[in-house]
Amino acid sequence: MAIMYIHPVFVYAIVVTLIFLSLRRFFTRRQFALRHGCQPVAKSANWEPFLGLDTIPGTIRALRQHKILERATELFRIHGTTFTVKELQRRAIVTIEPENIKTILSLKFKDYGIGHRLEPFRPLLGEGIFDTDGDHWSASRALIRPSFTRDQVADLACLEELIQDLFALLPRDGKTVVDLQELFFRYTIDSATDFLFGESVGTLRKTGSELGFAEAFHYAQKAVIVRGMLGRLSSFYRDRKADECNRMCREFAQRFVDEAFNAAEIKKKGGHDGAGQGKPRRKHIFSHELAWRTSDRRRVLDEVMNVLLAGRDTTASLLSNLFFMLAKSPTIWEKLRREVASLEGRTPTYEELRSLKYVQSCINESLRLHPVVPRNERQAIRDTVLPLGGGPDGLSPVFVSKGTLVCYNLYALHRRRDIYGADAHEFHPERWMTGKLRPRWAYLPFNGGPRVCIGQQYALTEVGYVLVRMVQEFRGLRSSSEDGREWEESLALTVCVNGGVQVVLLPDEGTSG
Ligand code: HEM
Ligand SMILES: *[C@@H]1O[C@H](CO)[C@@H](O)[C@H](O)[C@H]1NC(C)=O
Repeated sequence: MAIMYIHPVFVYAIVVTLIFLSLRRFFTRRQFALRHGCQPVAKSANWEPFLGLDTIPGTIRALRQHKILERATELFRIHGTTFTVKELQRRAIVTIEPENIKTILSLKFKDYGIGHRLEPFRPLLGEGIFDTDGDHWSASRALIRPSFTRDQVADLACLEELIQDLFALLPRDGKTVVDLQELFFRYTIDSATDFLFGESVGTLRKTGSELGFAEAFHYAQKAVIVRGMLGRLSSFYRDRKADECNRMCREFAQRFVDEAFNAAEIKKKGGHDGAGQGKPRRKHIFSHELAWRTSDRRRVLDEVMNVLLAGRDTTASLLSNLFFMLAKSPTIWEKLRREVASLEGRTPTYEELRSLKYVQSCINESLRLHPVVPRNERQAIRDTVLPLGGGPDGLSPVFVSKGTLVCYNLYALHRRRDIYGADAHEFHPERWMTGKLRPRWAYLPFNGGPRVCIGQQYALTEVGYVLVRMVQEFRGLRSSSEDGREWEESLALTVCVNGGVQVVLLPDEGTSG
């Protein structure tokens, strides 16, 4: 075999160029950092700085005990509000400084991206609002935004129909234990599919063996997490069941997208959008609105999948976390009963829902103590600066080199005693009642800045509606466990309650029997 001869001068030239380039980068960065008064982050979660293997056993233990979020909160207590972590290839800055979070999400929005999110999500979501950046994301946001600008996004008549389905499944003998969490996940997929497709999958009316779409969607999301954890290795990883579930979910949605384009076609030709055939259509159907605004079928399918993912488990998790805490506190339920009594048994209107202050306070408090998107992150797409976290006192700016992950932990942020007071770890809705608590960038259940949750009003309406109707229907609810089981995380893309929300419902005297 002939060995190719490479002249040594050529090798030296390459080596010298590489050294020159990296030195130049080093000095430009140092200058940039100096100019901004940056200091290095003083604290690291690792004492072994190369691979960061030392923190892995602790992480695994916390994972097993369902205490990942508690462990993170503890780390902030030990290391301060900004520190660095390294686990295998990932080096990250983690922070719970409101000023830093405001910088990432709003002031220097353009310096950060979520490019690392696309690969794990693409097989299920395609490319849409939730998993892209830059121009593609802007176009998604512009396409979707008008469907959410109406104040009254959520359709109360539909929510009421589903409430009746839910009530039909709730025991009223004051003894039987029921898992509300499982039912809330069915409630929200029923309402989300109604909103997106104009037709609910109706899981509350089905038995376990018929859950098809809901189950496939659930498995497909678990596979997203696995792909996310594997990172670059995920291209070597095959999960046939996940492939099958992705295909099933997308095909299921595709049917409705085709239908939406047919309706748009008819409407553009001057006909009505198929409303005359059979049952009358409701006012707003998300997929129909998108089909009216673009001719790109693939795009509509992708966006529908994105919104389904962003909207479904989040809302169900909020309901579950909220009801878990309510089941522990009869006095809070009693106060809710008194407030809701102002409706005199009528179902609430949209305006009435917003005016029920204690209802809103309970929802705010649940999102504070158990933010359903408890952790989030952005990746720097150019060299940039965070205002806080540098130097021994953490008060200097920090240089963030391109590619660095900046993670922020809302679970820990929402429990800062210096912001929320000594009772920050307790469920105490009254703290919201004075109207004086204005935490701004220290309270971010729906995120902030240009990528703020687009479905916030929709979600708050849905959750408020379910809460009010349950309060009207039941005199009380009790946690089934006598030992007073504490809230424990079940952490996936969102966080809900490990072990479910096992309760006994006490029927209202008026409606029992
Ligand atoms: C309690 C319920 C909800 C919570 C706590 C919540 C929270 C969030 C958060 C934290 C984000 C930011 C994610 C990120 O940028 O990293 C987000 C984005 C988003 N949410 Fe929600 N969400 C909820 C319900 C909904 C609902 C019901 C919908 C739609 C029907 C929805 C649609 C979206 C969309 C489309 C995005 C992406 C926005 C963008 O990147 O421009 N969400 N949500
Ligand atoms: C709940 O939190 C939001 C966001 O901080 C705030 O605008 C709203 O006024 C709060 N509601 C109540 C009842 O305090």
